[in-house]
Amino acid sequence: MRVFSGVRPTGKLHIGNYLGAIRQWLELQEKEDCIFCIVDLHAITTPFHPKELQKNIFETAISYLSSGLNPEKCVFFVQSRVKEHTELSWILGTICPIGELKRMTQFKEKTKKHKKYVNAGLLNYPLLMAADILLYQADIVPVGSDQVQHVELTRELARRFNQKFGNTFRVPKILLPKIGAKIMSLQNPRKKMSKTDTEKGYIGIFDTPKEIEKKVMAAVTDPGKKIVYNPQRKPGISNLLVIYSLFSGKEIKELEKEFRGKGYAVFKKSLISLLITTLEPLRKKRKELLQREVYVREILNKGAKKAQKIATSTMEKVKQNMGLS
Ligand code: AMP
Ligand code: TRP
Repeated sequence: MRVFSGVRPTGKLHIGNYLGAIRQWLELQEKEDCIFCIVDLHAITTPFHPKELQKNIFETAISYLSSGLNPEKCVFFVQSRVKEHTELSWILGTICPIGELKRMTQFKEKTKKHKKYVNAGLLNYPLLMAADILLYQADIVPVGSDQVQHVELTRELARRFNQKFGNTFRVPKILLPKIGAKIMSLQNPRKKMSKTDTEKGYIGIFDTPKEIEKKVMAAVTDPGKKIVYNPQRKPGISNLLVIYSLFSGKEIKELEKEFRGKGYAVFKKSLISLLITTLEPLRKKRKELLQREVYVREILNKGAKKAQKIATSTMEKVKQNMGLS
């Protein structure tokens, strides 16, 4: 099975990314034919600093490699290095009604958030994402729940293209993590944990033990004392339980039993030590990779070369079927 997923190179990665996306990638690279992409062309649809873009791409590469992504087991590369992404994106735009793009939740949210930055690229964002996926004939697309709508549009575009121009693309399936598809902000547990949140709202995968402790202790909890999973009534504690469960591999039910009658402080302290032990090796690996820039660049170069081969072959088929060549 071919697997494709992408990540935007915007700022630091947090445990939401780790539990919602990276962890799944790590499992998949062990058994499937995986292609993972740093989507820099998506990143420029929202405000960015040209001077920082390269740094962020490099940081993102290091984040994934530190987390355990293994370049021997998967293809790892930067989107803009393979020009076929933008080429196919243009083509897909010609079979996609504007209405379907305008109704995308992410488009609506981002135009609200960046009122002075409402550009056509933001509207066309899902087309580029569809191109990413279809270019590599992916069978499976592992993402967080916020990306479901985009993958559904991708499936629709693949079917439409195949119908209009003959069988060209595989129709990909979405793969969602079982629980933890949406880790919530520590400061507002009804909102998704996000890079654009306040520092205290998220735990970065490279946060120091001190930072982890401070942020977990300051995490918003709920009235009452019981450690029980109830996302409606107790969104704060439920979110912390999900995080605990995913990092420890213990069922939430088990945790409720373990912490029965113990109160929030004990639970938080235990979560802090769990997070520190799990994340410490990642911080060490990052330090090491920061010293080996040439090695990291080489990984991305090799990845781009492998990706290019597949992209070229799909585009040949696309152009032939459309009468463009
Ligand atoms: P982003 O950080 O928005 O570029 O997302 C990168 C990947 O992490 C995507 O697959 C997202 O769906 C996933 N992701 C982002 N934030 C969260 C979150 N709070 N909980 C779970 N998954 C997330
Ligand atoms: N839009 C995705 C996000 O915001 C990133 C992404 C771009 C992606 N292209 C992709 C994810 C292709 C999966 C497959 O997280």
